[in-house]
This record gives sequence, C-alpha cells and structure tokens, in this order.
Amino acid sequence: MDMALTPLRIASKSEIATGIIRFELQRGDGGELEPFTPGAHVEVQAPNGMMRKYSLSGDPEDRTRYEIVVKREANGEGGSRSMADDASIGGDLFVSEPRNDFPLASGVSNFLFIAGGIGITPVMSMVRQLNATGAARYKLAYLTRDREATAFRDELAMPEFHGKVHVHHDGGDPDKMLDLWPLLEKPMGRHLYCCGPRPLMEAVRDMSGHWSSAAVHFEDFGSSKPAHRPDDQPFHVTLARSGRRLAIPVGVSILDALRADGLNVSSSCESGTCGTCKTALVAGAPDHRDLVLAEHEKASHIMICVSRAPGGELVLDI
Ligand code: FES
Repeated sequence: MDMALTPLRIASKSEIATGIIRFELQRGDGGELEPFTPGAHVEVQAPNGMMRKYSLSGDPEDRTRYEIVVKREANGEGGSRSMADDASIGGDLFVSEPRNDFPLASGVSNFLFIAGGIGITPVMSMVRQLNATGAARYKLAYLTRDREATAFRDELAMPEFHGKVHVHHDGGDPDKMLDLWPLLEKPMGRHLYCCGPRPLMEAVRDMSGHWSSAAVHFEDFGSSKPAHRPDDQPFHVTLARSGRRLAIPVGVSILDALRADGLNVSSSCESGTCGTCKTALVAGAPDHRDLVLAEHEKASHIMICVSRAPGGELVLDI
C-alpha cells in the first residue's frame, strides 16, 4: 500500500436510511483533521482489509470530524458489508488524506446537482457549503427508490433547502424515473454535477451533449463500473515510445495491463469519470466508455481505465 493511512476513531455510527450507514470519524487525540473541499473523498480500510473510497459528506468548515456514508451492498465484494457489520463505535479505521477529483468549479454562480441514491454523498458537502456561504445558487435533483432509501431526507427538508431541492422516488421502476430534460434543456451558464448509478450518469451525459464539456462533471467510485460486455474482445495496445506491444484480454483494462507490465500509471476512479488516466492516442479507433472526454477529444485521447478497442489494436503515446 503506497498511501499514508491515519487511524481515526469511529465517534458515531447510525443507519440514516435502509442499509445506509453514516460514520463520524475523529482523531483519537481530538486534534484537527486535514482540510478538505466539497466533493473530496478519502480511502478507508474496512475491517476486513479491503480499501474503499468514500466521499466526505460533512461540512468542510468542521475540522473536528469527517462524515462518510456507506451503503451496505449485500452482493458486493465485501468492503461495504465489513464497514456496516464490523466497524464499531470506539474502534479505529485507517483513513487516507482527502483527495478531490470532483471539485466545485470556482467563479460559478449557478449549479445543477443530479444525485442518484448513495451518489448524494459528495453533493451534500457541496450544498452544505453553498448554503453556508451563499456563494452561488443551485438546484439539486435527488433520485431515490423510496422514502426509506433516502439518506439525509430530514436534513434536506430543513428550511435552508426549501426551493432548492427536489427529491424524486421512482419505486424502483425505470419508467418512473424523473424526466431530466426540463433540467438539462437550457444550460444557462450553470455547471452540472452528477453522481449516481451508471445508467443515471449515462442518461445525463446523453442529455447534456449541448452543454460545454468544461461545465459537466461526473463522479463515482467504481460502484457502478461499466460491466464487461458479452461482446468484449481481446485486443492489443502498442506503446509508441518503447514499441512494446501488450495483449489486453477480456476482463482486463488497458490500465491494469500496463501496470502488470510494470508501468507506473496514474488513476483514481477507475470507472471513467475522473479524468486522471487520460492518455493521448496515436492510432486506432477506441470504444469510448468514459463520461469524461468531450466529442472533440475522442479522436486524440482515451481513458484507459474503461475504454477498449473493438478494432483489435490501439497505439498509445506512452
Ligand atoms: S481513472 Fe478516472 S477516468 Fe480513468
């Protein structure tokens, strides 16, 4: 593990919606925590040893505690189950310093937030700060299955959120999903932030093609990684600077293959939303599976954590 982890004490743990658990973490000596900005996340080592990323959903001005919110995924890989079932008040969790791949753009006077399910967590720190500072106007559309599955529902019903927040329940029926087009039809100089399940983010991306790409921001933590598709094929990547040629099997990303070959490649979300792994493309026609690249960038760049090559060959500027 190459990142520094600090033990933080679990000061509180509570179920704030069905299967959604909020933790407050503090330093054992009561000291101040590293500062963070809205949209930041930390990596947390679950009691079973798995590393998981969680947004800091609390007030960035409060240096005494970090708030993280965990959705217990019964069929996940086990990290969230361990957090939900095994992490107890008074115990310690090992936590990285905050990092922000989803920062609020500065100098923007109007924001649109679209959050689905647990995707509300980075948005909570944003709206809390905007409420406190009054630095910009915003609207938040928050999509959940039903009332019981809605984290922060009491806080979002408080007067400071009136007129700014619309909570929509679809009952788990895709046909009852909120019609997003009225929100997205006119960009009006706003910046759009979307965090939630992959289908929601892809729907928002498809409906925001007329927005400036610099004004559209997505975030997830791999919980909604694009699934391997039944028609995925193996392909090859040639590294232009060294001439090395690597095979990319089905089920393996270009990023993983480069690392397995000993290359040091930067990444963060590994789900095509943060932009960290953006790589210049020398030749080839990728199947772009990210939510980051603007149309005009797709001929010259690729997000190597998710995208593939249906044509069998890519040449990367590495
Ligand atoms: S690591 Fe975030 S887009 Fe690839």
